[in-house]
This record gives sequence, structure tokens and C-alpha cells, in this order.
Amino acid sequence: MLNRRGVLAAGGLAAGVFGVPQLLTPAQGHEAHGTEFQESKTFTGAKPEIVPWTRPMPVPPVLRPLVSTPKQEIYQLSIDRTTAEILPGLQSPVMGFGGQFVGPTIKAKTGRKTLIMLQNKMDEAANVHLHGGHVPAEHDGHPKDLVEPGRTRLYLYPNTQQGTTLWYHDHSHGNEAAHVYLGLHGAYVIEDDSERALNLPSGAYDVPILLRDIQFDDSGNIVVFDDPAKRTVVLANGVPQPYFEVAARKYRFRLINSANQRVFKLRLTGDTFTRIGSDGGLLANSVEAEELILSSAERTDVVIDFTKYPVGTKVLLTDAAAGEILRFDVVRRASDSSRVPAVLRPLPAMPLSTVDREVDLAFVFKPNERPDGVINGKVFDMDRVDFTIKRGSTETWLIKSSDPAGVKHNFHLHLVQFRVLERNGGPPLPSDAGLKDTIPISAGETVKVQATFTGYTGRYVYHCHFLEHSWIGMMAQLEIVP
Ligand code: C2O
Ligand code: CU
Ligand code: CU
Repeated sequence: MLNRRGVLAAGGLAAGVFGVPQLLTPAQGHEAHGTEFQESKTFTGAKPEIVPWTRPMPVPPVLRPLVSTPKQEIYQLSIDRTTAEILPGLQSPVMGFGGQFVGPTIKAKTGRKTLIMLQNKMDEAANVHLHGGHVPAEHDGHPKDLVEPGRTRLYLYPNTQQGTTLWYHDHSHGNEAAHVYLGLHGAYVIEDDSERALNLPSGAYDVPILLRDIQFDDSGNIVVFDDPAKRTVVLANGVPQPYFEVAARKYRFRLINSANQRVFKLRLTGDTFTRIGSDGGLLANSVEAEELILSSAERTDVVIDFTKYPVGTKVLLTDAAAGEILRFDVVRRASDSSRVPAVLRPLPAMPLSTVDREVDLAFVFKPNERPDGVINGKVFDMDRVDFTIKRGSTETWLIKSSDPAGVKHNFHLHLVQFRVLERNGGPPLPSDAGLKDTIPISAGETVKVQATFTGYTGRYVYHCHFLEHSWIGMMAQLEIVP
């Protein structure tokens, strides 16, 4: 995939792939053809022919454990190349966990360990990172920790955190952008008993939806490194513009933005969402929301109540830029004993912060060359520690971007959930509420966040989660010391 040669070939890239507005583009380089899927393929720029609402939205199957005890569950999971019918009648080469373009959903429970034997059946190294997971450093899928072709690696996830919606994806150094884009992503749901006691919609009425965008060439191959503005096809669980049959009752949808770089602005035609959770779990209170802003890697849990709709009603999920992306078809009546309490779960108290830091996400533009991605002026170096943090300490980080206006980034911190204290000196956005691990940050903005680094020692990364940005170096490393 994006091997060394690919990286070099990409050196001549126009800045388009990084989502940099045209006015900032250094002198145009040639287009990248660094990946084998792109070679000698044509892209006329035509939007592929998609007849909306002809295919159902699949719900990714839940991965079955090999062994399940109250203390732990053991799974086997492969990474493989395969094909997927994303566009009707066309088989696109993809990568998949469990051989699926959207990997199987892994269900976990607070207090019960998950062990995954990950076998790499591909011809190139890859790995897995549990995004938002509180896991020991050696199991975090650090960019340097790769699973070589043909090898198996054991990942241990302690699941000590409360119930929430996480996702897992590749994090291999220099390849994460291509790998995730080609399909190495899936949902990871942690449930806990106190959440169950709230009696939110559950079982078949609790559905993860991975939303992402994608670009195809004329033969149905996925175009990996081009301008993200050309990723005009939006997929819900791997299918463009699907319908999803629902009963006239409440549903919980766990929305996951698995796009490499995109901010969704979601609405429902004629209805609102009830937001109940964000990256790290339930919000303190449920909130009515007309619009959901969801940047790459962010999650939001919502309840949609279809009770009021007569059978036959169709409710559209729309995005401000992409238009209609998913249609809910109310097809039957159903009884519903679930609830959406106004008060959900208090957020943990915030200890006093003792350390202040600044994190500046930026590009270094170079004429006729690929820009570098930097954090605090430095390109990612796996052997360099950027911040040393004392275990257990609470810190305040000011996240900003010194880039020219119009450039967008997306800050993500591994290991812990943080709280957004301020955005641009004012209150956080509704989408910043609750426990967070990822937040959008545009040039000119400043976001103050607070995190407590409990649990493990070792090295973890933080980075821009626009994956074409982390891929060119917009990533840094912290080390937690006893
Ligand atoms: Cu979603 Cu560093 O990862
Ligand atoms: Cu992560
Ligand atoms: Cu960025």
C-alpha cells in the first residue's frame, strides 16, 4: 500500500489531499500515484451512479468470542485484503478487520477484559488501536508496534472505563491514513451495569452507525490520496445512501465519524435528536439537538424516537455538505419500555490542574513539495518524547493552530478522556460536552482542555485525527512516568 515509494511519490503532492484550501496551495505538484490501487486508473470526477434508498444499511455483525467468562473474553480477529460491493455491481479492493470493509462490532463490558488475537493476513504490516480506550501502552497500537505480515499479536483491553462507544482502527506508522481509508475500522462498544439500569433502548434497538466519505475512480477502485473535497460519496456502515427499517419506537444510534478528514453536520428532516453520550460515555443530562457536529473520530450517542410516526413514514438523516445520507423507514409498530431519562449520569469530578501546556497543530508549507505536519514545530519522531507527564497528575492543555485562517485540524489524545473547559475564551460547543478524546480545532481557535493521566505509565501519542495530517507528521508523543 503506501510503502516507502508511496511516501516519496506523495512528496510532489498538491496540498489538496491535506484539506488545505486552494489559496494556500503551494505551486501545484503532480498528483500522487503512490498506491497500487490507483495506478493506471482514471477518475473523470463524475459522481458515481448511486440510486438512493435501494439497499439496506447493514448492521456490522457482533464478533463472537472464542472464550467467554465473567472475567474475560477472548477473540480472534484477522486483518485481510478483500473486496466489497460499495458501489452497486462493482467490487472494490478494500482492507478489513475480519475480512469486512466495516469490521465486526466488538462488545465489551466494564470490568471484563477483552483479549484479541490479531492475525495479519495481509502482505504488509498493520496494527490496531482502540480509539478512546484506557489501555496499557503496549496494547495501545502505538505506531511503532506493528503486526508484520503473517504474524499474530495479542491485545489486552482491560475495559476499566464506563460504558461508551469506542472504535478500533489501524494506527501503523506512515500507513494509518491509507489503511483506515481502505476499511480498517470497526465499532467497539463498552456496556456497564449502571447504564443498563437506565433502561435506554438496547439490543436490536441499539445500533452503531459508522459514517465516512470516500472517493472512487471509474472502475470502482477506491482513490486513496486525492483532494478530500472529491470524497463525495458518504457511507453509512459501508453503503451509500441506504435505508434502515425501524419500528415506531425509540432507538439508540451510536454515531461514529470514521472519515479520514471530515466534519459532519447532521440533521433529521422534521425531527430532532436526543443526545445522550459523547466520546467517553453518557452525558450528565440528555439534550435535544437539531444539529450534530461530528468531526473525524468523534462519537455521539443519540436517541431518535419514531413512536409518533405512522407506519410508512420516512425520516432522512442529512449532512450540510453531502445532503441526504441515510433514510429511516418506519415499517412496523412495536412496544417500547425503554426510556430516555433527563438525568443520565454525573460526570466525574475534575481534580485541580497543576501543569499547563500548549499544543499547536500546524503545517509547514514548502514550495513545490508536500507540506510537513508538525506539533509545536516538530514532525513526529517515534524516538522523541515531547511531554513527560507524572502519572496521576491533572493538566490543562491549550490546543490551537497557528495555521492561516481556513485550515482545519482535529486534536486527539490517547489513553485518557479530557474535558473541554473553554473554546475561544468562551463556553465549549454543545459537541464539546462530556468526556472527550477528540475535538475539531480550526486555525485561529483556542480550546482549553483538562485531563487526568491515571492508570498506566509508558508512551502514548497525541495527534491531529485528520489522518492525512498525522500521516505527514502531525503527531507527537507523551510519556507517563511513575
Ligand atoms: Cu483514532 Cu491515534 O487514533
Ligand atoms: Cu486514539
Ligand atoms: Cu490536522
